Amino acid sequence: MAEGDARRIFTGIAKSYDRVATVLSLGQDPRWRRALVEAIDARPTDRVLDVATGTGMVAQALHDRYGCAVVGLDQSADMLRVARTREGVFEEVVEARAERLPFTDAAFDHLTFTYLLRYVDDPAATMRELARVVKPGGRVAMVEFGVPAGIWRPLWWLYTRVCLPVAGRVVSSKWFAVGAFLGPSIERFYAWHPLAAVERYWREAGLDEVRTLIAAADTQIARVERNLERAARLASAAPAARPRAATLRRRRRPPGDCQGRWPGRRRRG
Ligand SMILES: C[S@@+](CC[C@H](N)C(=O)[O-])C[C@H]1O[C@@H](n2cnc3c(N)ncnc32)[C@H](O)[C@@H]1O
Repeated sequence: MAEGDARRIFTGIAKSYDRVATVLSLGQDPRWRRALVEAIDARPTDRVLDVATGTGMVAQALHDRYGCAVVGLDQSADMLRVARTREGVFEEVVEARAERLPFTDAAFDHLTFTYLLRYVDDPAATMRELARVVKPGGRVAMVEFGVPAGIWRPLWWLYTRVCLPVAGRVVSSKWFAVGAFLGPSIERFYAWHPLAAVERYWREAGLDEVRTLIAAADTQIARVERNLERAARLASAAPAARPRAATLRRRRRPPGDCQGRWPGRRRRG
């Protein structure tokens, strides 16, 4: 997606974003965010980068849960204006793009993001850039919508193509545009980048232990786990009809190798 298009979508909805996002996700959004934050398992002394922080809901949850330092980054000045009203949450709020992070290698202990990959032209390259700023051994967790299979598929189609635009229209013309954009955007993304490809991008970016949790019929949470055993337990605890999980962990890097791998934890040098 062109840079200007992504910016346009998120201009003019910031003030109502938190409330409307919860309503349009049928109240599920806070639960997905909690699962994402739990997957990070940070210490109070850790520094976490929240990319595509938007109005800062993930950042707030990280701060409340761990008391860690949180840096928020987003391309939208509008969304960041709301994020900055969250007192005491951010160490720093940065207006920049995920594709070109203004940070040195391994500047953060962990990294989170939600609903970002559909807005970048080259998800694999962006994931490599995200991995670059995470310390070896650090964790990355993301949330992204998915496309359900089987009986859920026509219901999902109906919800995204009819309910979302109509519900958005009730709020404003801006939200109507967002509601109408979401379904086709999600479907297009997975046609080009199926889940297995996204998991492979993480491994190629230097992460391993990729687990994808299907948190609802249409929502995936990928996480990077420090502890393989725990990741396996979490994955097997997921009911078959709901979450499948893929966890990526950043692999340890051999000395002198600046290219890590992901899923789960970044490799230590
Ligand atoms: C759907 S919102 C999610 C906001 C927040 N993470 C949340 O869960 O509430 C997506 C955010 O991604 C940001 N975004 C889109 N493309 C981006 C990019 N290339 N670099 C940085 N931020 C981007 C948008 O500005 C928007 O704030």
